[in-house]
Amino acid sequence: MSAGNVTPRGTARTEAARDHLWMHFTRHSTFTEGGGEVPIIVRGEGAYVYDAAGKQYLDGLAGLFTVQVGHGRTELAEAASKQAQELAFFPLWSYAHPTAIDLAERLAHEAPGDLDRVFFTSGGGEAVEAAWKLAKQYFKLVGKPMKHKVISRAIAYHGTTAGALSITGIPEVKAPFEPLVPGGFRAPNTNIYRAPEHLREDPKAFGRWAADRIGEAIEFEGADTVAAVFVEPVQNAGGCFPPPPGYFERLREICDEHDVLLVSDETICAFGRIGELFACKDFGYVPDIITCAKGLTSGYAPLGAMIASERLFEPFAHGDTSFAHGYTFGGHPVSCAVAMANLDIFEREGLVQHVHENAPQFRGTLEKLLDLPIVGDVRGAGFFYGIELVKDKETRETFSGEEAERLLRGFLSPALFEAGLYCRADDRGDPVIQLAPPLVIGQREFDEIEQKLRGVLTQAWSKL
Ligand SMILES: Cc1ncc(COP(=O)(O)O)c(C=O)c1O
Repeated sequence: MSAGNVTPRGTARTEAARDHLWMHFTRHSTFTEGGGEVPIIVRGEGAYVYDAAGKQYLDGLAGLFTVQVGHGRTELAEAASKQAQELAFFPLWSYAHPTAIDLAERLAHEAPGDLDRVFFTSGGGEAVEAAWKLAKQYFKLVGKPMKHKVISRAIAYHGTTAGALSITGIPEVKAPFEPLVPGGFRAPNTNIYRAPEHLREDPKAFGRWAADRIGEAIEFEGADTVAAVFVEPVQNAGGCFPPPPGYFERLREICDEHDVLLVSDETICAFGRIGELFACKDFGYVPDIITCAKGLTSGYAPLGAMIASERLFEPFAHGDTSFAHGYTFGGHPVSCAVAMANLDIFEREGLVQHVHENAPQFRGTLEKLLDLPIVGDVRGAGFFYGIELVKDKETRETFSGEEAERLLRGFLSPALFEAGLYCRADDRGDPVIQLAPPLVIGQREFDEIEQKLRGVLTQAWSKL
């Protein structure tokens, strides 16, 4: 065992991980009862990560939809080091520090419309939480105190804190913690592959239908009780549902008609994942609030943000009103310095342009997989795709719960990793493989992803 694989106390890291580390969203019996070894990633370089044995994996998920500029950027490590030496920490509670100010100005400049107020958090869920609280307090301040509910979409993931979990639309993730914060209601998402049959061939009609379902949910609840609609530009959970044409135009109309805030949860989609720095720009709508995190620092330090329109800030600009909300580490000076350096890389290397130019090739390469009997659908946008697996392509029949368990957890996830591709096999809806690699990759890595998926999916089919 190499020295790199033991803890300072002399324990094998795989054992210490099994015995002491409580991993997130992890079925620990794999390690405590099943004899599995915790995979340990020790290093990253560009689009690749390496385990303790030196084995290379293509990072098909940018860590967790996060490492936009790729791994191993010394420039970002240096930005963090410089800031930590100058001012390691100071809160944004009635005081400010230069990196938070500079970053707030930069984000306000990049955000569309009059989304000019930046409230920093430590991550995406906290940004969602902050957005809901802002929506509630805003309406109290402007004389509509009953507006407090939220509409979000089926299977959408918006975070795990109690409020964000109420907005999340995945029943199995919520069930252990019910009852949650009251006021979260669901409407259909934009999964056209599973849309009512008469709408599948007409994306525009489907877009109108899906947006109108949100309008209907607002009306069912009573518009004077609804504060906000939370949607991702491209919904991740369920496997990459892009908006059909006209969807956001209609949704904006509905929100305006009912004086309901449109919150664009761009925790995944911002910072080039779809193309632009903010994905609402890719789809031509201006929300009232953007929530973002992850790619803001490319994961080199934790940071999130809620970016609100001037209209929402206005009541807080007067008298003794304040937004009684905050986080010790929200807008951490080191994280803000890293975010500035990260956005410098975006500009210098033209990453927005790179995604726009290369997305069609990425999609085209993944679409080659449609010749496999198990691949029902390839969907997504930018550098963000979902590959839905089916039992029968003709009928779009999906797998039973037991089959999905055997296929995804039992075979695909470990087999893909074994083949040197880190990505996610997800069954928070129908079974999908999710891909969201660092934004720096090109045709060579697209081909590598396709080849590895082809091998493992072919094997999976033979095991059914
Ligand atoms: C759309 C969306 N919102 C919120 C979150 C929660 O972000 P975090 O894990 O940083 O709290 C996520 C996490 O993946 C997300 O995808």
